[in-house]
Amino acid sequence: MDKIKWWQKTNVYQVYPKSFLDTTGSGTGDLNGVAEKLDYLKTLGTGAIWLTPVYPSPMVDNGYDISDFTGIDPSYGTMEDMERLIEEAKRRDIKIVMDLVYNHSSDKHPWFIDSASSRDSEHSDWYIWRDARPDGSAPTNWRSIFGGSAWTWCEARQQYYLHTFAEAQPDLNWENPRVREALYEAANFWLDKGVGGFRIDAIVYIKKPEEFVDGEPDSEDGMVNIHTMIAGTPGILDFLHEFKEKVFAGHDIFTVAEANGVEPKDLPHWVGEKGVFDMLFEFSHMTLEFPNGELWGQATGYTPAVISGLKKVLAASQKATAENGWYPIFFENHDQMRCVRHYFPDDAPKVPAAKAMASILLTLRGTPFVYEGQELGFGNVAWDSIEAYNDISSKGQYELALEEGKTAAEAMRIVHRYSRDNARTPMQWTRGRNAGFSAGTPWLPVHEDFASECVETEAKDEESVLSFYRHLAALRQHGEAADVLQQGVYEEVLAESPAILAFKRIYGRREVCTLVNFTGEVQSYALPELAEASLLAGSMKDSVKGILRPFEAQIYMRETR
Ligand code: GLC
Repeated sequence: MDKIKWWQKTNVYQVYPKSFLDTTGSGTGDLNGVAEKLDYLKTLGTGAIWLTPVYPSPMVDNGYDISDFTGIDPSYGTMEDMERLIEEAKRRDIKIVMDLVYNHSSDKHPWFIDSASSRDSEHSDWYIWRDARPDGSAPTNWRSIFGGSAWTWCEARQQYYLHTFAEAQPDLNWENPRVREALYEAANFWLDKGVGGFRIDAIVYIKKPEEFVDGEPDSEDGMVNIHTMIAGTPGILDFLHEFKEKVFAGHDIFTVAEANGVEPKDLPHWVGEKGVFDMLFEFSHMTLEFPNGELWGQATGYTPAVISGLKKVLAASQKATAENGWYPIFFENHDQMRCVRHYFPDDAPKVPAAKAMASILLTLRGTPFVYEGQELGFGNVAWDSIEAYNDISSKGQYELALEEGKTAAEAMRIVHRYSRDNARTPMQWTRGRNAGFSAGTPWLPVHEDFASECVETEAKDEESVLSFYRHLAALRQHGEAADVLQQGVYEEVLAESPAILAFKRIYGRREVCTLVNFTGEVQSYALPELAEASLLAGSMKDSVKGILRPFEAQIYMRETR
């Protein structure tokens, strides 16, 4: 029998602390709010909490612009609160996982302030500086991921600095060994505090090409997405092996890196024994609607092709991690729309859609990551004007869509679908004021459906999305299906079906089979081997073997002889 590690058996829950629970009335969530809900998180089989950044930050990108890598932003509480959270979580057998944002810092980080002050400063070469072209323009035509040029002019140095993301997020110069040492030291600071792992942000961008050249423009602004020009630059793995050796090695933790664009064939270099990380978040199932990079204005929106696309890429990533590494299963995070809208037609009812995704998330091979609110079946929001949005990427993509000739109304429709604020509205705890999130004014509006989609309501209803998540989480961790769900090999079923996503998990003499209808029509399937299988879980009452009602999910178990 394979010996699997603690983080391969557990569920991870992602907390976006700003939107989780506000215990002070400030309108933004805090660390004590996370501590208060640990028992709730335990009911979802949570063994680790990934906290998005809680470090001091000017919050241009909601904490992904860090001005001190070893501090706590006062809006979230204090270092003592953090230590208490780690301790309280540990008492419940939950580890806290920190988000390491090491491609860039905030422009208010003392390192950058010093670096920008002159070419002779102590931190002069801690960031990426280049001279202007002879005509004074930016060194290359690269567009930052949030829109606009990836270069910003600095008067004091008479040079441009590079930022893959916002102007307020200058890229660190990983070629400088002092920079790398400082970053490793900060990560080790958190290991000493007792954290159980790291989610590593935007890691594919840390290595820059030797020469900076213009790229083929991909939009009306004459620029090219920087991602195409710098992601996965050869040599990046040397940095990452050093990172592993100086920080992760020898600790009983897990690492999961955000690695948009790493191809399945390269996976063995990145994960597993010979690789660098335990898991990689790759985005092939997140980018199905983007034929041309992540330009929202050029996205296809939902089409039935999304279903076959999803089937194909999920099967491919299961295959790619069958021998090497381990798959972090996720359908939502703080950067994505809600999954009940992502993979379903607009008129699909939310409850069955949410349960359909839960069925896959909690029975696929890998470690499931549940994003706050997903377990309640949250949908997207649609606010009237771009000013109502906080997400910096929504603003950039809106501008770009206008530049590409879209009308304001069309550009808003795009924002409604893809805005990261869809995932960032406050968590919904009760039917009371502000859904129990805050006694003050919430920093983003609470979703209008909160009375039916909140913990208070759903915990009492056996048919709710929350009850379904709890049921599946329990199946995965205890009882006769647990070994299969944790360790069983994956095999695709009904691969040719354009409507049903199905797979088996096989371990010893047991098999679990998950079937999900992604369409609004009744679908039938013929799987004679399920004749004697028993139903482990179903998203709707009175399910019938062989038939899936619109958006229905069924999960069977059988003994093989
Ligand atoms: C990652 C984060 C995202 C952030 C960006 C820049 O993609 O998930 O929220 O804006 O990196 O740090």
